[in-house]
Amino acid sequence: MSDKIAYARHGEVAVLTVQNPPVNALSQAVRQGLWDMMDRAEADIGVRAVLIVGEGRAFFAGADITEFGKPPLQPHLPDLINRIEASPLLVVASMHGVSLGGGLEVALGCHYRIAVPSARVGLPEVHLGLLPGAGGTQRLPRLSGVEPALEVMTTGRHVGAKEAHDLGIIDVIQEGDPAENGLAYAQKLLAKDAPRRPVSGMPAPAPIDWDATFEATLARSKGQISPAWCVRAVQASVEKLFAEGLKAERQIFYDLMQTDQREGMIHAFFSERQVSNLPELKGVATRGVNAIGVIGGGTMGAGIATAALLSGLPVTMLDMTAEAGMAARKRIEGNLSGALKRGKISAEDHENILTKALSITTSYDDLSEVDLVIEAVFEDMDVKKKVFAELDRVCRPGAILASNTSYLDINEISATTKRPKDVIGLHFFSPAHVMKLLEIVVAEKTELDVVATSFELGKRLGKISVRAGVCDGFIGNRILSTYRTAADHMILDGASPYEIDTALERFGFAMGPFAVADLAGLDIGWAVRKRKRAEGLDPRARDASYADKLCEAGHFGQKTGKGYYDYAAGAKARVPNPDVMPLIEAERAAHGITPRAFTGDEIVRRYMAAMVNEAAKVVGEGIARRPLDVDMTLIFGYGFPRYRGGPLKWADMQGLGGLLDDIKSYAQTDPYFWTAAPLLEQLVAENRTFDDLNKKG
Ligand code: CAA
Repeated sequence: MSDKIAYARHGEVAVLTVQNPPVNALSQAVRQGLWDMMDRAEADIGVRAVLIVGEGRAFFAGADITEFGKPPLQPHLPDLINRIEASPLLVVASMHGVSLGGGLEVALGCHYRIAVPSARVGLPEVHLGLLPGAGGTQRLPRLSGVEPALEVMTTGRHVGAKEAHDLGIIDVIQEGDPAENGLAYAQKLLAKDAPRRPVSGMPAPAPIDWDATFEATLARSKGQISPAWCVRAVQASVEKLFAEGLKAERQIFYDLMQTDQREGMIHAFFSERQVSNLPELKGVATRGVNAIGVIGGGTMGAGIATAALLSGLPVTMLDMTAEAGMAARKRIEGNLSGALKRGKISAEDHENILTKALSITTSYDDLSEVDLVIEAVFEDMDVKKKVFAELDRVCRPGAILASNTSYLDINEISATTKRPKDVIGLHFFSPAHVMKLLEIVVAEKTELDVVATSFELGKRLGKISVRAGVCDGFIGNRILSTYRTAADHMILDGASPYEIDTALERFGFAMGPFAVADLAGLDIGWAVRKRKRAEGLDPRARDASYADKLCEAGHFGQKTGKGYYDYAAGAKARVPNPDVMPLIEAERAAHGITPRAFTGDEIVRRYMAAMVNEAAKVVGEGIARRPLDVDMTLIFGYGFPRYRGGPLKWADMQGLGGLLDDIKSYAQTDPYFWTAAPLLEQLVAENRTFDDLNKKG
């Protein structure tokens, strides 16, 4: 008997209903249950067809990801699917919600497939560093042809029912209850004596240029290998007999299962869900947020307003003057027309947002009714304090007062109000309506329900929200500032910005740090350096000033056409700015440094050591609660390659002992910068990993 699969007999049809909430993952118990119930149906006199249907939200969300990386348990999914397909009974799948990965592969092992119009299917295994390993790479091409099958599995995207029907994946689309639809369909097939129709028996599809497709896919995937291996598995579906093709697929699946990329991506999958899961917020009632205010309509404020408007919230945008307000409206309109073009909103929504949901004002009094205000004004403590004094004056009691500061002390800002318990940091990343990261910075006096409400707002805005404590730069910018400093030191010692960018882009970063600086605007880093120098640098710190000279010459990066790179031919066709190396060489000479060569590996090793060491300090000091909070911050806000799992997961996979040895060896020439994080030393001494700390919850 199985408690995961209910068995019911309806005339000649045995109905197997999968009951494994929340998403019917194909755990060992589900696989065993399906196997046993197929046996039962085949032994049940008078049964001629089997219907497989899921209860709850989905048909099947795929293999049970929690079992990956552990010894595989029988029955294996490919064997189960072969067993279903080989059944002498007619087997029908009735699909609703999602049918993903192994879930779609079960459906492809059935002889007929019916789905409700809202059903979605997909083979998202590449997002876990894998490929479809239960026949998907062999069966899907036989239904849809090679190129559509490869497109579906290398992107891992969800395919709607209509498109899946066009691709030959779904036979019938029908509104209604999946169980009733499936039963009627099975009965209809029996009535017309429809034959069993195993996909494995269908002819192999036509070949393509496999090597060229493999190389092109590899190049597109920026270092991630699993999409390209889908090409080799599909090649086997064309060139080998079905059973041999399955073996080839299985071998690649097992090989990918052993990779760090698989481990990194599965860490990212679960961390993405765990990151907003904070025990202290369980059961805390939130304050309703039905209208928000945004102060400052620059790029950041306009992006925040856009994100809120797109989530259905009305926004009052305040700027200093009517002209500034007009400019803010223009920016928001620009963002919204992008969303309209990409089909994210309808023309009607677009119209409503602009005419009804957005209002622009220059008067603080217009913020008296909003539930939450986010300040996104110039990054200067005195300016922020003035804004918060005004908010304290006009906002209703209980309204949440948030600052989008990226570095400044939120305790100090909140202390200027009479309601520090209502003050919090909501640090968005530019462009705020696109970037997924939101740092929720909890100040000393912030009340728990303000934190809970901020997480709820983050979810509504579609953000990955990470809790951070107060310090200079919080989680992300504090770590960024350290690894950028490591990059500057390498430049003083002989590396070029272009060698550094190339090495890190090869590592998998979306952009190298100097290209990122050009994109963000070099004036931002310049302002931070000036502030830090004004606060007083430690005399032991190495300070690089070549970038200041670029700024002094008016080169702020992409927005002025030149920074580290020259953008005369467009952002993508960047070429090194010839003014940069002479500035660097002059600074090296002034410091009496004889430049030395750096290999790409050494660049990555030093850069990552600096990142991991600072991240360990951030976790050790409680600024980030868990290592996974750092990993999600870097992946969603800083272009860290998801397939490496985040810097601390990467560090675990490299071995913490080796990293600590590196840090100690670098410390011999610069002991001030390379002070090892106490947490890193402790983990090495105790032979533990960062991930061990994640498991504590
Ligand atoms: N295995 C185990 N747990 C899973 C799971 C899976 N395949 N899919 C989802 N879950 C869990 C989530 O971790 C989450 O757990 P918590 O509530 O404890 O956090 C819960 O189910 C609900 O998931 P979401 O919060 O993500 O819910 P959602 O409604 O936003 O999304 C979903 C649902 C679209 C199914 C999404 O969870 C998803 O994309 N899941 C992964 C699907 C996938 O990658 N399948 C392929 C698996 S690999 C495979 O099948 C290999 C093969 O070829 C044999």
